[in-house]
Amino acid sequence: MKQTPDVGLQYMMELGIKPAKNADGILRQLRERVGNTRAEELAEAIFDRRDRSALGQKSAADNMNFYDLKNQDFESSITLSGAHDGDIFRKTCNWIDGHREAFGQTILDVGCDCGIISCFLAKSFPQSHITSIDLSKNAIAVARELAERLGIHNVTFLHSSIEALPPEEYDTVFSSRTVNENHDQLEGTTQFLLLTQQGKLCAQMFQQYAERLTSHVKPGGHLVTIERLERDRLFLGYCLALSDCHMNLCSESYQELFCRESGRDSRLQALYATKEGVCQQAEQTADFFYGTFQDQITWLPQHLDVEAELILELSAKELIRGVYLHNQQGARVGKLALYTSKYEEDDLFYYQGFLGEPVRLSRYDLARRDELIQFLSQELDTFAAGQITARAFQFLDGQEQPEPF
Ligand SMILES: C[S@@+](CC[C@H](N)C(=O)[O-])C[C@H]1O[C@@H](n2cnc3c(N)ncnc32)[C@H](O)[C@@H]1O
Repeated sequence: MKQTPDVGLQYMMELGIKPAKNADGILRQLRERVGNTRAEELAEAIFDRRDRSALGQKSAADNMNFYDLKNQDFESSITLSGAHDGDIFRKTCNWIDGHREAFGQTILDVGCDCGIISCFLAKSFPQSHITSIDLSKNAIAVARELAERLGIHNVTFLHSSIEALPPEEYDTVFSSRTVNENHDQLEGTTQFLLLTQQGKLCAQMFQQYAERLTSHVKPGGHLVTIERLERDRLFLGYCLALSDCHMNLCSESYQELFCRESGRDSRLQALYATKEGVCQQAEQTADFFYGTFQDQITWLPQHLDVEAELILELSAKELIRGVYLHNQQGARVGKLALYTSKYEEDDLFYYQGFLGEPVRLSRYDLARRDELIQFLSQELDTFAAGQITARAFQFLDGQEQPEPF
């Protein structure tokens, strides 16, 4: 069998990058290369950032401070990036090498940071010219030094945001891990809706940035995007926003990159999309999303969170009984519903979603229908005792709508 060369690993070795196994490993590498004081400053900055990000507290200013600090000098930047993100770089480079058809003569790398991926693009596509931009001036200085050390001449680094870039079009626009730093806030909540409806709401968060990225793609050109959105409503929203910008998502190019990030698992979504004359229909994009993930579902009797929502979206046939739960202020705090199954005539799905708890979808035998209807009523009685009111919804043409009062 022909082995695919691990060009990502080769490139990491060329740069002297060794992904650290954990936080101690990062600190060790930093101490060796930049001394104790600077090592501790950098390690504190990266872990503080990671904690704030997990709590949803990371702001644009935090990002800028972090990138400027990390990129104050060449050794700090490459060592920290390599130790923390080395596995991500390796897998990203391998994905790029496996999808060479998406890279044209002119390539824009948006948010290039210290230039590790930009220089890989420049080496991989010597006939192309790469324009790489970043918000951080320090990052651009490190990226220039990296290109110089590697003897690379087909890349230009510019200190610029994508917003400030002149309206030039490129054969390929490349974005790796920038979407998370550029989306808007979600207005309202997507909770307890079907996944497609959640995706449509989330699309609003990505619309402006998707327009920015894709406005630099030539007609017929490609957007290559490798982002960390997990396979959920956010990724569906991003795909819908891209479709709205006339981008045709290439299903064959889609790959989940399973990476280790200093001892933690992280999952990136890589794909490319082609700029076409027409907007893709939301339904087609949802099909892409569902088709991509369907074969990853394990058909167990119990499902949680996005998998529960995915299965419900794909498999619900008819609603037997469904209610949204509202608190005294009128806010939706949950959903209880019982559906028949499209694919398994002998199955029922019982959906339980309560604020602050993982959504749960359970499969039962159709023979237990009456028992489950009764169980749902009992659950409602318990909620009614706690001042939670139930409002019935309808399920028509695969859409949920509250019943008129
Ligand atoms: C998570 S890093 C990813 C770096 C690089 N693309 C990679 O995958 O290794 C995000 C980088 O994008 C830059 N960035 C974020 N938003 C940007 C924008 N609107 N315009 C230009 N650069 C941006 C940040 O300064 C940062 O260096």
